[in-house]
Amino acid sequence: MKSLTSIEEWRDYCERVRRAGGRVGLVPTMGALHDGHASLFDCARRDGTVVVATIFVNPRQFSDDADLQTYPRTLDDDRAMARRHGVDCLVEPRLDEMWPDYPLPTATTVSVRGVADGLESVGRPGHFDGVASVVAKLLTITGPCVAYFGEKDFQQVAVVRAMVRDLGFAATVVACPTIRESDGVALSSRNRRLSPSGRARATALSRALAQVAQVPASASVVRATLRDTLEDAGVMVAYADVVDPVRLTASGDDESGERRALVAAIIDGVRLIDNGPVTLVAREA
Ligand code: PAF
Repeated sequence: MKSLTSIEEWRDYCERVRRAGGRVGLVPTMGALHDGHASLFDCARRDGTVVVATIFVNPRQFSDDADLQTYPRTLDDDRAMARRHGVDCLVEPRLDEMWPDYPLPTATTVSVRGVADGLESVGRPGHFDGVASVVAKLLTITGPCVAYFGEKDFQQVAVVRAMVRDLGFAATVVACPTIRESDGVALSSRNRRLSPSGRARATALSRALAQVAQVPASASVVRATLRDTLEDAGVMVAYADVVDPVRLTASGDDESGERRALVAAIIDGVRLIDNGPVTLVAREA
């Protein structure tokens, strides 16, 4: 596995891959790698791409400084995991190259409207500006590629897709399914910050989603079922919503068909998110 830190070398590496007839598979991460990230590496390998993974804890997407300071950093384990899963090139870009002005604001920010509004943005103002700006920079440096993201961050995938389409990046965005523990909890780097009792309560998110996935219902019944299941488990609900899976607009009671249920909860001060499919049936007028 090749290890790089400089932007110039990373750009050259990707250019050489393409000149040799290969396709670059970009897997952007913030480290603290787990089996969810490993599944993205595997997915990129199965697609036959030359896998370029990045580890960069992007300070611009944290609205809360304490969250940034406590974000897990496990670089040695990350490198071992990347190697085990056949990553061809691991890039750990330096902060002073990625954001030369940091901690001052950048002159240029990529700001996506519509899909980026609501849901995560309510509790994390500016979060998606940080995500879109860093992903735009990663895609610009990498050049034409297939870019892999986890479906657990459903709104993030929608934001990246909108940005890639609107700004004409030469990237194909692939969303890979959420990887779960045996008790249903979605893998997340944040799970390791949960206490044992918090970890037990975290099962409420996937349980709530499994419940609404089973029985077609109206949008307001889905919302109430999600919220009740989470509150009964004693977790603080940030949101429990059902939305159009592409535009992410809130679904109404007059709608039927396939939609997406999204939940966010705060447990032990840790913000956890999850999502799953749901079938709506319009409520009788
Ligand atoms: O999902 C993440 O880990 C981050 O938001 C990403 C896409 C690597 C951008 O920093």
